[in-house]
Amino acid sequence: MRLDKLNLNDNYRELIAQAREACFNAYAPYSGYPVGAAVLWDSGRITTGCNVENASYGLTVCAERNAVFQGAARGERKISALAVAVLNDKIPSPCGACRQVIREFCSDCDILLINSRGEIARTSLKTLLPDSFGPEFIGK
Ligand code: THU
Repeated sequence: MRLDKLNLNDNYRELIAQAREACFNAYAPYSGYPVGAAVLWDSGRITTGCNVENASYGLTVCAERNAVFQGAARGERKISALAVAVLNDKIPSPCGACRQVIREFCSDCDILLINSRGEIARTSLKTLLPDSFGPEFIGK
């Protein structure tokens, strides 16, 4: 669905704008698949990230994890929502590793997925990662 057709609040519009902007800083010379992500924390702060690849391919870090770690490094601990944007016409989907990293900072949250045409899919962490393992399993 297009952005103007979804009834999104201002926070979510800003989150989407920042995720789309973050794509342009992606360092993706190997895959040619730039990704941008933006996390809205409970405090109201938004942190962003992009994918950063490496000639040693396995060291690549996804946009979502970079965006989450930017917030954690500023003392944020509770995710409210997350947006992921790509410069590709297919709606993206966070990889399994990123889903688990998001899970560390919330048991559920809204996730907005945006393609190059500005089309948006709205889902949730619980949908993407059902029956998940988290900090409370080990008493945290
Ligand atoms: N990538 C992300 O940044 N997020 C995802 O959810 C999926 C994959 C990146 C990793 C790599 O730089 C490129 O996309 C292709 O896999």
